[in-house]
Amino acid sequence: MRVFSGIQPTGAIHIGNYLGAIRQWIELQQNYECIFCIVDLHALTVPYDPQTLKDLILEKAIVYLAAGVDPEKSIIFIQSEVKEHTELTWLLNTVTPAGDLTRMTQYKEKSRKFKKNVNAGLLNYPILMAADILLYQTDIVPVGEDQKQHVELTRTIARKFNQRFGKTFKIPEAKLAKSGAKIMSLTDPTKKMSKTDVPENYIGLFDTPEQIKEKVMKAVTDTGKIIKYNPQKKPGISNLLTIYSLFSGRTIKELEKKFKGKGYSDFKK
Ligand code: TYM
Repeated sequence: MRVFSGIQPTGAIHIGNYLGAIRQWIELQQNYECIFCIVDLHALTVPYDPQTLKDLILEKAIVYLAAGVDPEKSIIFIQSEVKEHTELTWLLNTVTPAGDLTRMTQYKEKSRKFKKNVNAGLLNYPILMAADILLYQTDIVPVGEDQKQHVELTRTIARKFNQRFGKTFKIPEAKLAKSGAKIMSLTDPTKKMSKTDVPENYIGLFDTPEQIKEKVMKAVTDTGKIIKYNPQKKPGISNLLTIYSLFSGRTIKELEKKFKGKGYSDFKK
């Protein structure tokens, strides 16, 4: 079975990327043929500085290695160095229903956020992602929840292509982490933690311990003061519980018990 996944070199990489995607990669590489890409062409759909982008690509390679992607077991590469990604994108463009693209949540969000730069690449972005995945006859795509919709579209595109031209592509499946598939923002726990939002919203993998402490202490919590996991009613503390649980290896139940009778500030410390 083959695994393919990637991260955009836009902005700072954060614990959402780590817990939602990279942690799954490290596990999967033990038993599957894994390909992990730095998807630099995707990063061109939002405003960027060409020189900084080069540094950000290298930084992502450093993260892959430091987080435990083993180059003896997995393939690591830069998307733009394999020209077939863009070639296949064009062919897939011709079978993708345009209406499906305008319905994508990420397109809607990003076109709101980058109002002055709603370029065609932003709209066609999921087709490039489909090309990334289908090019390698991928079985499994480990991603965070926000990318599930794009993997669904990839499946639709592959089916359409296969129907018209005969069986060509494998139909891949998204794989989400049981816990951590959607780490929320520290400044607004009803939104996902994001690289393109203010730095206070994320814990960056390159943040110093002091910066991390400060961000956690300032993280928005909910009314009340009981440490209880309830994402609907208490999204702030539930998000912090998820993060703590995943990094400490302790269950949320254990943590709730440990902090029984204590307040948010004790918990954050
Ligand atoms: P990107 O670069 O935005 O994010 C990289 C990975 O991190 C996951 N992720 C999160 N997981 C949990 N909580 C969060 N707050 C969070 N934020 C991000 C993402 O779901 C993703 O798995 N389009 C993709 C990159 C891509 C790709 C691919 C992925 C391009 N081609 C082919 C898989 C296969 C993206 O923008 O991810």
